[in-house]
Amino acid sequence: MMIEEVHIWRGTPEQRSLRGQVLKATQFAYFDAQLEHPDWSSKSVLDFGGNRGNILHDPECEIRQQNYYCVDVIHEAIEEGRKSFPEAHWYHYDRYNCSFNPDGIAHLPVPDFGRSFDIILAYSVFTHTTLEEMRDLVTQLATKLAPGGTLAFTFIDPHWQGNLKWRLERLNAEVDWEKFLDCSRNARWCSLVNNKLFFDSNGRWPRERDSCMTYHVFYTEEFIREQFPHATIRPPVNGEMQHCCIVQA
Ligand SMILES: C[S@@+](CC[C@H](N)C(=O)[O-])C[C@H]1O[C@@H](n2cnc3c(N)ncnc32)[C@H](O)[C@@H]1O
Repeated sequence: MMIEEVHIWRGTPEQRSLRGQVLKATQFAYFDAQLEHPDWSSKSVLDFGGNRGNILHDPECEIRQQNYYCVDVIHEAIEEGRKSFPEAHWYHYDRYNCSFNPDGIAHLPVPDFGRSFDIILAYSVFTHTTLEEMRDLVTQLATKLAPGGTLAFTFIDPHWQGNLKWRLERLNAEVDWEKFLDCSRNARWCSLVNNKLFFDSNGRWPRERDSCMTYHVFYTEEFIREQFPHATIRPPVNGEMQHCCIVQA
């Protein structure tokens, strides 16, 4: 079984015990390239869905702890981040997410940080929320930008270099490949709920909250352009699979 971020926080004791071993810290290099090397040391940064501050674990990361604000729906991740980087700013955001925080509060507004930000980042966050949540959260985050500020978030285009096919193969999901290729050709977006694929839909999931559910959403570049017509969209960099959508204040 493939271990995903959600498993190391909400999975079995065995899966949680892997937390120390699986920490992806390529986010800084990714955004540095996508945003064309800003002077990070002078920028205030909000890492939306920043987990335990994974981006700060890259030794090359130029964001100063004092300027770094991290918000996430996983309480434990925020507390871990606070322990590792005590000079940074940590916020638990108890908003419902069907996978990462199923006991959270639906539609809870983004916290008031008492300030605005030069840069707001969200790496692989709206790849795990519904379409309506992405629209709502991006709109709210844009209001937290300082004048001249930049919001950059990632998304996964299902068709780009076979992204969706790659994910399905890794999951060993049961797929009728002929039907899949037929449907996916025309799909503008799709979701993968516990290995079940839904086209042009957020998908469906059971109401009970004890199971650790995996939830992925894929949007074509064209679809994201329509959702955010004033944004700039950049293709993946550094051999990664996620596109970047950049919104200026
Ligand atoms: C795949 S992880 C990525 C974590 C981090 N950005 C990184 O690059 O390592 C997705 C993160 O988004 C967080 N998340 C999901 N929905 C959220 C929401 N509505 N507000 C804030 N964080 C959210 C999850 O708790 C999780 O930490």
